[in-house]
Amino acid sequence: MDKYLIPLMEDNITKNDILELINFLSQEKIPKLTNGPKVVEFEKKWSEWLGVKYSLMLNSGASANELTLLALNYIYGEGEIIVPPLTWISDISAVLFSGMKPVFCDINLKNLSFDLTKLKQMITTNTKAIFLTHVLGINGLTEELLEICKEKNILLIEDVCESHGAEFKQKKVGSFGFASNFSFYFAHHMSTIEGGMICTNDEYFYQVCRSLRSHGMVREMTDENLKNKIINDNPTLNKDFIFLRPSHNFRSTEINAVLGLSQLKKLDTNNQIRKNNFDKFILNLDSNKYITELSTEGQCNYAFIVIMREKSFELRDLIEKTLNENGIEFRRGLSGGGNQLRQPFLFKEYENKLSNFQNVEHVHNFSWYIGNYPTLNTEKIDLLVNLLNNISL
Ligand SMILES: Cc1ncc(COP(=O)(O)O)c(C=O)c1O
Repeated sequence: MDKYLIPLMEDNITKNDILELINFLSQEKIPKLTNGPKVVEFEKKWSEWLGVKYSLMLNSGASANELTLLALNYIYGEGEIIVPPLTWISDISAVLFSGMKPVFCDINLKNLSFDLTKLKQMITTNTKAIFLTHVLGINGLTEELLEICKEKNILLIEDVCESHGAEFKQKKVGSFGFASNFSFYFAHHMSTIEGGMICTNDEYFYQVCRSLRSHGMVREMTDENLKNKIINDNPTLNKDFIFLRPSHNFRSTEINAVLGLSQLKKLDTNNQIRKNNFDKFILNLDSNKYITELSTEGQCNYAFIVIMREKSFELRDLIEKTLNENGIEFRRGLSGGGNQLRQPFLFKEYENKLSNFQNVEHVHNFSWYIGNYPTLNTEKIDLLVNLLNNISL
């Protein structure tokens, strides 16, 4: 028997994907399997799907976060990056590793993105970018946020690792900001086993990212004028081995790209099922017990979001016990396990400032996500909703 009646994810990689991979690997002449034509093909198709000029495939979403910040630092210099405390750890470590300074702004409980009143107060002349996370398929963009970025001339970076296909004003999120990051980890909307993507419309940023994806090697750039200028500026160096700045090897393999191409074909169909599942779930959830007035327009999620209204640890424990007893897998705290400021590497600095972060504190203590995947049937959604609605002390 399966361990869970409703696991966090199921059948994300299918038999058909594996057959495509076997087919690719069974060629008479085995192709070079490191980053090559399949990666380029997947990047091109991804750009078309998202509606951006450039996409760069990497070995994870965390790598996409880190490379984006390294490139920002290279191009714009050091400064502050406004980040949410509700995100995956890699968004914060990317800021720290790049030498930038994270400035934390609380979230709102409508779209789980920034509290804009607080955000406005945090912008200084040192602010280089706002690093937004679209949490679990909920669009985090608003006209007001885009206006703030435009007015203050601040870059917007979108982390879309949890929200492939979510939309704002009928346009996919990840196509609004200066750059965006995606993850293809197993738990997400589609999977390449491990994998990630950086997307942008900015040619220079893209060229810098190309080089930083491969240790910082300038020969990875495809803009010949830019490349030649750097080569001419470094006459003592072998042109094949010029490193723009210290970086890592963030490259993908062809194997991951073949899976990506196969998965992309069914992404929209799968996402439509997920959206319908989520609508059914949230419409039927008891709004007296749970926060159901989330901004769900344009949502596209792989998870049902459950946020208690009451701040009751006793009720929380009872809900967890009930979910466990009924085979429902869950994660408390939504993205990244809740408030990142409570993690050991930040806690000492923020211990006395947690009252400024009441919304993320609520999510940290009183929320969960539960799996929403294409093969989840209506009976199971009904069962889950009934279970949640009927729990009381
Ligand atoms: C918001 C967010 N950013 C970044 C990542 C990192 O992606 P990956 O697991 O592919 O490294 C995740 C992973 O789950 C995530 O949820």
